[in-house]
This record gives sequence, C-alpha cells and structure tokens, in this order.
Amino acid sequence: MENILITGGAGYIGSHTAVALVEAGYQPIIVDDFSNSEKNVLEGLSKITGLSIPCYEGDCNDRSLLEKIFSEHALTGVIHFAAYKAVGESTQKPLKYYGNNIFSLVALLETMEKFGVENLVFSSSCTVYGQPDELPVKESTPRKVAESPYGNTKKICEDILVDQVKSEAKLAAIALRYFNPIGAHPSSHIGELPLGVPSNLVPFVTQTGVGIRKELTVFGDDYNTPDGSCVRDYIHVMDLAEAHVKAISYLRGKNAPFYDLFNVGTGTGNTVLEVIQAFEKVSKQALNYKIGPRRPGDVEKVWADTEKITRELDWHPKYTLEDSLRDSWNWQLALSKTPA
Ligand SMILES: NC(=O)c1ccc[n+]([C@@H]2O[C@H](COP(=O)([O-])OP(=O)(O)OC[C@H]3O[C@@H](n4cnc5c(N)ncnc54)[C@H](O)[C@@H]3O)[C@@H](O)[C@H]2O)c1
Repeated sequence: MENILITGGAGYIGSHTAVALVEAGYQPIIVDDFSNSEKNVLEGLSKITGLSIPCYEGDCNDRSLLEKIFSEHALTGVIHFAAYKAVGESTQKPLKYYGNNIFSLVALLETMEKFGVENLVFSSSCTVYGQPDELPVKESTPRKVAESPYGNTKKICEDILVDQVKSEAKLAAIALRYFNPIGAHPSSHIGELPLGVPSNLVPFVTQTGVGIRKELTVFGDDYNTPDGSCVRDYIHVMDLAEAHVKAISYLRGKNAPFYDLFNVGTGTGNTVLEVIQAFEKVSKQALNYKIGPRRPGDVEKVWADTEKITRELDWHPKYTLEDSLRDSWNWQLALSKTPA
C-alpha cells in the first residue's frame, strides 16, 4: 500500500480524506498537533475504516518530527491541511496565522525535498478570489487583494508553490481551492468540531437546531441575489475528500516540476435562506432565525466553475445540498448524545 502523509489529518477535512484514502487503497499517516481537533477523531476513523491509522502528535513546523515521520515511512505524497483557519481571529493575531500557515508549508517542502518526496496537495480556498468580477469563478479568474491575513496566507502559500516549481525543484503540486465544505461522514462517526461559537453557517444552523444556540442571525437579506441573502457553493466534505484522492493519483502520472490548481465546489450557488430551508426539511423542524444587518467583509455571491476539475481529474460531486444538511444534522445529534 502507498503511504500518504496527511498533515492536520485529525481535523475536519483531513479526517474525511483519511477515510477516502483508505477506501481508495492508500495508507494514510496523520500528523496533527490537536490545536483544533480532538483525539477521539481517531476512534471515529477506526470505527469507519476498521483500521488503526498511524498518527503522530506534533507540530508541522517541527522539522525533527517531520524528518522522523519521513524516515519511518516511504511516502508517495503529502496532503497539507494543517493550518489555522479562523478568518476573524487572523485579523486580531496575524502573526499567529502567517507563522503557522506559511512556515509549516516551508518546513514541509524542505523535508519533502530532503527525502525525495515529490507529490503535494495543498488546501487553498476560494477566499483568494474575494468578490470575483465574473461568475461562476474559473481558476483563471484573477485573485483579489486578500480580505484577511488568513486569506493572504493561502495566496502566499500558492505563490510559494509556484516559485518552488519555477525553480525546477522536484515538486509536483496541486492547490485545491475549496468552496464551502459542509456535511459529515454519513456514519456520523466523524464530522466538523467547531471550537466556541461557529463562524460558519452550517454548524451554527445545526447547533441552533439542537438548542445549543438560541437563534441564528442571517446577515443581510438585501443583497443582489434571488432571495437577498448571500450565495455560496456548499460542497459535501466527502466529495471534497474524494477530490484529494483524485489529485494524488493524478500527480502520480505527472513528472516534477509540475503545478496546477483546481476549484472544488459543486458548480451551484445556494443562498443562506435555501440552506435553512434544506435544514428544516431534513430535520423536520423549524429553525429559529432572524434577519440581521450585513456582516462586514462578507462577499455577496460566489460559486465555482467546476469544468476544469471534472475534465482533468474526472471528479464529480455526488452529494446534494439536502444530503449535506442531513449528514451535518445527524452528526450534530450524535455529538449531543456523546457525554462531554
Ligand atoms: N473548512 C473550511 O471551510 C475550509 C475552506 C477552505 C480551505 N480550508 C483549509 O483546509 C484545511 C483544513 O481545514 P479544516 O476545516 O479541516 O480545519 P481544521 O482546523 O478542522 O483542521 C486543521 C487541522 O490541522 C491541525 N493543525 C493546525 N496547525 C498545525 C500544525 N502546525 N501542526 C500540526 N497540526 C496542525 C489542527 O489541529 C486541525 O486538526 C486548512 O488549511 C484550511 O485553511 C478550509
């Protein structure tokens, strides 16, 4: 079996990708410092896969730890999820975000070079597009000035990959620009674990549904969209996980130096109010929400052009918006049953 290192593999997207890798016949190896995840994610993974996935606890900025992992396992590739991702916090603590998100990529690239590991998939974000001038957004759509230090780290990391490949380094890299990942594994053994008050819509919706939050505020209903609320491209996390498996196998057919980037979304935009309606349908309950003012920094509408990833990686999303909301809701219900 080919070994794939997943940094941040105990996190939301990393853990689901571990499952998809196992299903595709790869052996995932996790490194995570658990700064934004829980150790019991590993139990969830073994319930789903029937395997005990090797996990190293530590920081990806720690080169000696990376070297230990690389010397203990012959790696086919690396998927680099590990990063801090709270947009709001990044405006308060920019150095924390630049320090972790950028230096961990540099440490990883240096270690890959040292050990002759060529294939890398990097977690980027549609945040690099800001409010794009054209919709749906293509990979060729120009990036905008980042709205936050977090967004800037994604742009800088993409640029680091481009420069490294231009330098003729033995690196074959793909940046995946995720749109809005939601949902959970259908088994409800793993899912999203937001710390504190969620800043993303769906965890707030499900937490309101289960009574942890009293009320959801919809930030603005006067945008230029079908019902006035913001539009996003919500993608089921298992579809997103599958895109990583496709990206890894695509890289194995490429010779370094190589770089490309792909949008990962469904190609469809949904409004906040449509997400609420889908939630109400699958949970068979009314959600307590109110309309509030616009939130500063929110983009009005963004959704992906997925033609490139469909054509090049033969990747197709399988889950609907309702599937995603159903899996998020079941995960929330499972969490609520777990003793704290
Ligand atoms: N979830 C989203 O909406 C979204 C959207 C676009 C891009 N992304 C990117 O995808 C990646 C994964 O996101 P996620 O939602 O799974 O986040 P997450 O916080 O659930 O997972 C990230 C994991 O990385 C770990 N980590 C952070 N810094 C580390 C370090 N230096 N060393 C070791 N482990 C470290 C955390 O403990 C966590 O388990 C991130 O790079 C994020 O920026 C996420």
